[in-house]
Amino acid sequence: NIFFYHAGYFTCCLFLFFSQSCGCYFSTSSQRSSQFYADPLEAVKDIPNGSTLLVGGFGLCGIPENLINSLLKTGVKGITAVSNNAGVDNFGLGLLLQTKQIKRMISSYVGENQEFERQYLSGELEVELTPQGTLAERIRAGGAGIPAFFTATGYGTLIQEGGSPIKYNKDGSIAIASEKREVKEFNGRHYVMEKAITGDYALIKAWKADRAGNIVFRKTARNFNQPMCKAAKTTIVEVEEVVDVGTFAAEDIHIPSIYVHRVVQGSSFEKRIEKRTVRKSQEEKPKPKKDSDIVRERIIRRAALEFEDGMYANLGIGIPMLASNFIKPDITVHLQSENGILGLGPYPTEDAVDADLINAGKETVTVLPGAAYFSSDESFAMIRGGHVNLTMLGAMQVSKHGDLANWMIPGKMVKGMGGAMDLVASAGTKVVVTMEHSAKGGKHKILDKCILPLTGKQCVDRIITEKAVFDVDKTKGLTLIEVWEGLTPEDIKACTGTDFAVSIGTVSQLRATYCKCNKLL
Ligand SMILES: *[C@@H]1O[C@H](CO)[C@@H](O)[C@H](O)[C@H]1NC(C)=O
Ligand SMILES: *[C@@H]1O[C@H](CO)[C@@H](O)[C@H](O)[C@H]1NC(C)=O
Repeated sequence: NIFFYHAGYFTCCLFLFFSQSCGCYFSTSSQRSSQFYADPLEAVKDIPNGSTLLVGGFGLCGIPENLINSLLKTGVKGITAVSNNAGVDNFGLGLLLQTKQIKRMISSYVGENQEFERQYLSGELEVELTPQGTLAERIRAGGAGIPAFFTATGYGTLIQEGGSPIKYNKDGSIAIASEKREVKEFNGRHYVMEKAITGDYALIKAWKADRAGNIVFRKTARNFNQPMCKAAKTTIVEVEEVVDVGTFAAEDIHIPSIYVHRVVQGSSFEKRIEKRTVRKSQEEKPKPKKDSDIVRERIIRRAALEFEDGMYANLGIGIPMLASNFIKPDITVHLQSENGILGLGPYPTEDAVDADLINAGKETVTVLPGAAYFSSDESFAMIRGGHVNLTMLGAMQVSKHGDLANWMIPGKMVKGMGGAMDLVASAGTKVVVTMEHSAKGGKHKILDKCILPLTGKQCVDRIITEKAVFDVDKTKGLTLIEVWEGLTPEDIKACTGTDFAVSIGTVSQLRATYCKCNKLL
């Protein structure tokens, strides 16, 4: 190979007398062709202090674990890490947080990492929380030479208004706040301008590379790896296997070699699983139910009535996901998981657990026949583009005009918005909130106005609690459409922090509605 490129370059020098373009062609191709490394440390040892690194993976799925471990050895400091998550305390990027090698994280969700939360809230770490779909698209745009774009995601929230804490002072006040975004109106909707992200280096985990440097990913381990390959000056890919050219067909290549500068075959892969979840065997006796379980199950079963035949639905972690267990057997609902699955199936049996196949809650899952895997930028194109019919998610607070808050409590708790801001900003998608009617201690969650930072403005279409179901009109407010058996609209008024209309004439008709939900039990 080296001989060929040198020869090519040399010929070029002669040709340069006659043609400028020839010189460019050959010299570029000789710089860009993939280099193969035997040792991951060799592949990362030139990364200097202060670099911006794009680090692939979703949770612990598809993370470049050998490259990350090698950075522990090089001791590079002052890293800005662009990564959807921050690993866990003792694996993945969490390791580089412990050694204080990371200065700033640009992420959408950091909920699984206590050291991260501690460093952030105590002012040791800078964090730019970015909606997951916006993050994926900023990276995609970076790789595609698009400096900025407009998205509805985050309009009316701290993302657009600015002032979201990036760095705290020791006393809990804000040292660095996020910048305000430019807003433009297109066809009567508001959009915020988001700028592209590029990196000095991308650290990528792929399944296989062929000897020409073309790459394929496996199952949901593709996620952010695919767009990140294209958005860095130097893309370093660790793979499980290097195979001969032709082992996978040219039409099956996920990343063409032009984007791949360095390839290293990882020496070993731990492929740690964040939430090993398996299907319960039929023989297993159900555990005795606590009161909180009964409340949850009531919400879950009512939520399941939202599914319609042929629908595409994205379900949040917890109650929404559990509702899929109660989809009526005579209808088909296609479940989308924003980490890159359409056609999500049930939890696996013990022997089918696969670290490369997880859902957006980082749980091990299966897929149904006809399913598809794709990257994070593709997933959010699907969501933002309004192709998903229904999204169901939890909430801390909902206002009477459908404002939703579910991603942070300033100064106290930071988990991040994950994909929620993108999901609720999609014009074509019905947004259903499932939650307990009141918070601990009876505090209202359904309010005139949300107190917590918003996830989306005027975005919720329906609220389902263990006591009631409301429809939301984004200008007129709430209408109570169902109450749980034994309760009256007066009871609901007493435990709700805002006014609402009641759509059904008599209480007996209302009861008929709950009974209908109950029939599923
Ligand atoms: C990187 O930063 C560390 C600590 O600030 C320093 O000791 C080291 O010399 C730096 N490395 C380079 C290559 O500048
Ligand atoms: C889902 O949305 C598509 C448009 O994106 C629409 O054509 C289809 O009828 C919807 N399906 C259901 C079941 O709501």
